[in-house]
Amino acid sequence: MQVQWYPGHMTKAKRAMKEDMKLVDLVIELLDARAPLSSRNPDIDELGRGKARLVLLNKADLADEAANRAWEDYFRERGLVTVRADARRRADMRPIQTAVQTACREKKERDLRRGIKNRPVRAMVVGIPNVGKSTFINSYAGRACARTGNKPGVTRGNQWIRLGKDVELLDTPGILWPKFEDEQVGMRLAMLGSVKDEVLGLEGLSLKLLEFLRGRYPETLRERYQLSGTAMEGEPVSLLMEIARIRNCLLKGSKPDGEKAARLVIDDFRSGRLGAITLELPGEERG
Ligand code: G4P
Repeated sequence: MQVQWYPGHMTKAKRAMKEDMKLVDLVIELLDARAPLSSRNPDIDELGRGKARLVLLNKADLADEAANRAWEDYFRERGLVTVRADARRRADMRPIQTAVQTACREKKERDLRRGIKNRPVRAMVVGIPNVGKSTFINSYAGRACARTGNKPGVTRGNQWIRLGKDVELLDTPGILWPKFEDEQVGMRLAMLGSVKDEVLGLEGLSLKLLEFLRGRYPETLRERYQLSGTAMEGEPVSLLMEIARIRNCLLKGSKPDGEKAARLVIDDFRSGRLGAITLELPGEERG
């Protein structure tokens, strides 16, 4: 899903977020594990001030394992309870339940000191489009979930999904807008398919991706497309044309079809067919 954002969208999203935020104790922030900082909106620190926080590195199945570990350390070092997941897998929800308890420990202790017992933690899921919010809510809530009715003060017809006796989850996720100011961030989000890239277009985007892959994951790239050593050393555009030839993406007269090859490379990356790949590492987010 590619989303175009306009200032009006952002104002509306921010207002809705602020309203919903008043209702919850815990914010579950979903990031794309393949580009955790690019897929993060730093305004969440301000919006979620005073709330318990949990960072969920989602789509971890598509990301590089060593990078997943490095990013977990990165967020934990910043005091955020952090877990990774493939939101489509029910089995990945168990560690998240534990993490929710950890993230809310302070609040529970505060409640107890005030004599409040057994009050469920109220949580909401937030993140930029396409990061997996709906998928996560479905897996986390599962079949056993019971929807509690509308309650006073609940905006936009939101409903609470009761998860055991401990947690209530808002059924509508909060949509955060991506950061656009940084060119690198915009490009990574376009590679992930979260925003439309009108500057580079599909072919330009694939060239940037090929350049990155050749630098960071040369073996993965070479093996996937059976590229020769010479092809690997050329300009990104000759690399793309070589892939077009190898994969039979041809125009009339057997000319390589760059557009078709670009789509192939980008689809291979987004679907994980290229392997587990992370676009940014801690410390080089803006590199
Ligand atoms: P959103 O609510 O945040 O906008 O995201 P949503 O749940 O709709 O998920 C977007 C796409 O990402 C979906 O693919 C979903 O299956 C996939 N997805 C979500 N979490 C994970 C994960 O942890 N791992 C993997 N591999 N995929 C995940 P889709 O329905 O095919 O949509 P699209 O790809 O056509 O946009």
